Amino acid sequence: MTEQTGSKVWWNQKYETSNDYLYGRAPSTFLADNLRYLRKGHTLDIGSGEGRNAVYLASKDYEVLGIDFSDIAMKRAETLAKQTDVRVEFKNQDLNFFLVPLMKHDSIILIDTRPPLTLLKSLSRGLVNGGTLFVEAYTVNQIGRSGPKPDISECYKPNELLRHVTDLHVIYYNERIHDNEPARVQLIAKKSIR
Ligand SMILES: C[S@@+](CC[C@H](N)C(=O)[O-])C[C@H]1O[C@@H](n2cnc3c(N)ncnc32)[C@H](O)[C@@H]1O
Repeated sequence: MTEQTGSKVWWNQKYETSNDYLYGRAPSTFLADNLRYLRKGHTLDIGSGEGRNAVYLASKDYEVLGIDFSDIAMKRAETLAKQTDVRVEFKNQDLNFFLVPLMKHDSIILIDTRPPLTLLKSLSRGLVNGGTLFVEAYTVNQIGRSGPKPDISECYKPNELLRHVTDLHVIYYNERIHDNEPARVQLIAKKSIR
Protein backbone atom coordinates (compact mmCIF):
# COMPACT_ATOMS: atom_id res chain seq x y z
CA MET A 1 0.00 0.00 0.00
CA THR A 2 1.29 3.48 -0.80
CA GLU A 3 1.23 5.79 2.20
CA GLN A 4 0.00 9.36 1.92
CA THR A 5 2.95 11.64 1.28
CA GLY A 6 3.90 13.69 4.32
CA SER A 7 2.28 11.25 6.78
CA LYS A 8 4.12 9.79 9.78
CA VAL A 9 4.38 6.34 8.13
CA TRP A 10 5.64 7.94 4.92
CA TRP A 11 8.35 9.84 6.81
CA ASN A 12 9.39 6.75 8.75
CA GLN A 13 9.60 4.78 5.50
CA LYS A 14 11.68 7.56 3.97
CA TYR A 15 14.15 7.51 6.89
CA GLU A 16 14.27 3.71 6.73
CA THR A 17 15.65 3.87 3.19
CA SER A 18 18.97 4.93 4.71
CA ASN A 19 21.01 3.31 7.45
CA ASP A 20 22.86 6.55 7.89
CA TYR A 21 21.64 10.11 8.54
CA LEU A 22 19.44 10.95 5.54
CA TYR A 23 20.01 14.70 5.92
CA GLY A 24 23.51 14.38 7.37
CA ARG A 25 24.88 15.42 10.72
CA ALA A 26 26.02 18.91 9.74
CA PRO A 27 23.65 21.83 10.35
CA SER A 28 22.12 24.00 7.65
CA THR A 29 24.82 26.37 6.41
CA PHE A 30 22.27 29.18 6.38
CA LEU A 31 21.64 28.54 10.08
CA ALA A 32 25.31 28.28 11.01
CA ASP A 33 26.09 31.48 9.08
CA ASN A 34 23.35 33.48 10.78
CA LEU A 35 23.54 32.51 14.44
CA ARG A 36 23.98 36.17 15.34
CA TYR A 37 20.27 36.68 14.66
CA LEU A 38 19.28 34.03 17.21
CA ARG A 39 19.74 35.17 20.76
CA LYS A 40 20.59 32.52 23.31
CA GLY A 41 17.61 31.08 25.10
CA HIS A 42 14.60 28.83 24.44
CA THR A 43 14.75 27.58 20.86
CA LEU A 44 12.05 25.51 19.22
CA ASP A 45 13.11 23.36 16.26
CA ILE A 46 9.95 22.37 14.42
CA GLY A 47 10.32 19.18 12.39
CA SER A 48 13.72 18.55 13.97
CA GLY A 49 14.22 15.25 12.09
CA GLU A 50 17.53 13.54 12.82
CA GLY A 51 18.62 16.46 14.97
CA ARG A 52 21.42 18.07 12.95
CA ASN A 53 20.25 21.65 13.60
CA ALA A 54 18.99 21.14 17.16
CA VAL A 55 22.25 19.46 18.20
CA TYR A 56 24.30 22.18 16.55
CA LEU A 57 22.36 24.90 18.39
CA ALA A 58 22.76 23.04 21.68
CA SER A 59 26.51 22.85 21.06
CA LYS A 60 26.41 26.66 20.84
CA ASP A 61 24.68 26.87 24.24
CA TYR A 62 21.08 27.30 23.07
CA GLU A 63 18.39 25.54 25.07
CA VAL A 64 16.65 23.48 22.41
CA LEU A 65 13.36 21.61 22.11
CA GLY A 66 13.02 19.57 18.92
CA ILE A 67 9.63 18.33 17.78
CA ASP A 68 9.04 15.62 15.21
CA PHE A 69 6.74 12.63 14.73
CA SER A 70 9.21 10.23 13.12
CA ASP A 71 10.37 7.65 15.67
CA ILE A 72 13.30 6.69 13.48
CA ALA A 73 14.50 10.27 13.01
CA MET A 74 14.09 10.94 16.72
CA LYS A 75 16.18 7.94 17.72
CA ARG A 76 18.95 9.18 15.42
CA ALA A 77 18.60 12.71 16.84
CA GLU A 78 19.00 11.40 20.40
CA THR A 79 22.06 9.42 19.34
CA LEU A 80 23.58 12.49 17.67
CA ALA A 81 23.01 14.55 20.82
CA LYS A 82 24.67 11.86 22.93
CA GLN A 83 27.64 11.55 20.57
CA THR A 84 28.06 15.33 20.53
CA ASP A 85 27.72 15.41 24.31
CA VAL A 86 24.94 18.01 24.37
CA ARG A 87 21.52 18.13 25.99
CA VAL A 88 18.53 18.52 23.69
CA GLU A 89 14.93 17.78 24.54
CA PHE A 90 13.26 15.87 21.72
CA LYS A 91 9.50 15.46 21.77
CA ASN A 92 7.65 12.97 19.59
CA GLN A 93 4.62 14.96 18.54
CA ASP A 94 2.43 15.37 15.46
CA LEU A 95 2.48 19.03 14.45
CA ASN A 96 -1.18 18.78 13.50
CA PHE A 97 -1.92 18.60 17.23
CA PHE A 98 0.72 21.00 18.48
CA LEU A 99 -0.17 24.40 19.90
CA VAL A 100 2.79 26.69 20.24
CA PRO A 101 3.00 28.03 23.82
CA LEU A 102 2.35 31.76 23.99
CA MET A 103 5.47 34.00 24.07
CA LYS A 104 7.82 31.28 25.20
CA HIS A 105 10.55 30.96 22.58
CA ASP A 106 13.47 33.24 21.83
CA SER A 107 13.76 31.54 18.47
CA ILE A 108 11.70 29.20 16.35
CA ILE A 109 13.42 27.43 13.52
CA LEU A 110 11.91 25.60 10.57
CA ILE A 111 14.47 23.95 8.34
CA ASP A 112 13.12 21.91 5.45
CA THR A 113 9.82 21.55 7.21
CA ARG A 114 6.42 22.88 6.29
CA PRO A 115 4.11 22.78 9.31
CA PRO A 116 0.31 22.71 9.04
CA LEU A 117 -1.03 26.11 8.00
CA THR A 118 -2.69 26.92 11.32
CA LEU A 119 0.58 26.30 13.15
CA LEU A 120 2.57 28.27 10.60
CA LYS A 121 0.28 31.24 11.02
CA SER A 122 0.49 31.12 14.82
CA LEU A 123 4.28 30.92 15.18
CA SER A 124 4.77 34.61 15.90
CA ARG A 125 2.58 34.20 19.00
CA GLY A 126 5.10 31.67 20.32
CA LEU A 127 7.96 34.15 20.17
CA VAL A 128 8.96 36.44 23.00
CA ASN A 129 9.34 40.11 22.10
CA GLY A 130 12.58 40.44 20.18
CA GLY A 131 12.45 36.73 19.26
CA THR A 132 13.31 35.36 15.83
CA LEU A 133 11.57 33.13 13.31
CA PHE A 134 14.14 31.39 11.13
CA VAL A 135 13.10 29.43 8.04
CA GLU A 136 14.81 27.65 5.19
CA ALA A 137 13.05 25.28 2.82
CA TYR A 138 12.35 24.30 -0.77
CA THR A 139 9.81 26.16 -2.83
CA VAL A 140 7.37 24.54 -5.24
CA ASN A 141 9.68 25.73 -8.02
CA GLN A 142 11.99 22.83 -7.14
CA ILE A 143 9.32 20.27 -8.13
CA GLY A 144 10.27 18.57 -11.38
CA ARG A 145 13.72 20.17 -11.52
CA SER A 146 17.04 18.37 -11.40
CA GLY A 147 18.76 18.01 -8.02
CA PRO A 148 16.94 17.45 -4.71
CA LYS A 149 13.44 15.98 -4.98
CA PRO A 150 11.39 17.38 -2.07
CA ASP A 151 7.79 16.30 -1.75
CA ILE A 152 5.24 19.00 -2.47
CA SER A 153 4.11 18.73 1.19
CA GLU A 154 7.51 20.18 2.23
CA CYS A 155 7.48 23.12 -0.18
CA TYR A 156 6.36 26.75 0.09
CA LYS A 157 4.69 28.70 -2.67
CA PRO A 158 6.37 31.87 -3.97
CA ASN A 159 5.93 34.71 -1.45
CA GLU A 160 3.84 32.45 0.78
CA LEU A 161 5.98 32.84 3.88
CA LEU A 162 5.79 36.60 3.63
CA ARG A 163 2.01 36.43 3.80
CA HIS A 164 2.15 34.43 7.05
CA VAL A 165 4.55 36.67 8.94
CA THR A 166 2.95 40.08 8.48
CA ASP A 167 3.13 40.70 12.25
CA LEU A 168 6.92 40.18 12.24
CA HIS A 169 9.70 42.40 11.01
CA VAL A 170 11.31 40.63 8.06
CA ILE A 171 15.02 41.33 8.19
CA TYR A 172 16.08 38.85 5.50
CA TYR A 173 14.14 37.17 2.72
CA ASN A 174 15.48 35.33 -0.28
CA GLU A 175 13.78 33.12 -2.86
CA ARG A 176 16.33 31.47 -5.06
CA ILE A 177 15.37 30.36 -8.55
CA HIS A 178 18.60 29.84 -10.47
CA ASP A 179 19.05 27.20 -13.14
CA ASN A 180 21.96 25.50 -11.42
CA GLU A 181 20.83 25.71 -7.78
CA PRO A 182 17.89 24.23 -5.87
CA ALA A 183 14.89 26.55 -5.48
CA ARG A 184 14.99 27.58 -1.83
CA VAL A 185 13.35 30.15 0.37
CA GLN A 186 15.15 31.68 3.37
CA LEU A 187 13.57 33.99 5.91
CA ILE A 188 14.72 35.67 9.11
CA ALA A 189 12.03 37.71 10.86
CA LYS A 190 11.91 39.35 14.27
CA LYS A 191 9.09 40.05 16.65
CA SER A 192 9.44 43.74 17.37
CA ILE A 193 9.82 44.97 20.90
CA ARG A 194 6.88 47.34 21.35
C1 LIG B 1 12.92 17.20 5.48
S1 LIG B 1 12.85 16.69 7.17
C2 LIG B 1 13.84 17.98 7.88
C3 LIG B 1 14.40 17.62 9.22
C4 LIG B 1 15.31 18.68 9.85
N1 LIG B 1 14.62 19.93 10.06
C5 LIG B 1 16.56 18.91 9.06
O1 LIG B 1 16.76 20.03 8.57
O2 LIG B 1 17.36 17.97 8.94
C6 LIG B 1 11.19 17.15 7.69
C7 LIG B 1 10.81 16.60 9.06
O3 LIG B 1 9.49 17.07 9.40
C8 LIG B 1 8.83 16.04 10.12
N2 LIG B 1 7.38 16.25 10.00
C9 LIG B 1 6.67 16.41 8.87
N3 LIG B 1 5.36 16.54 9.16
C10 LIG B 1 5.25 16.46 10.52
C11 LIG B 1 4.15 16.50 11.42
N4 LIG B 1 2.89 16.66 11.00
N5 LIG B 1 4.41 16.38 12.73
C12 LIG B 1 5.69 16.21 13.19
N6 LIG B 1 6.76 16.15 12.38
C13 LIG B 1 6.54 16.27 11.05
C14 LIG B 1 9.30 14.75 9.44
O4 LIG B 1 9.18 13.63 10.28
C15 LIG B 1 10.74 15.09 9.11
O5 LIG B 1 11.62 14.63 10.12
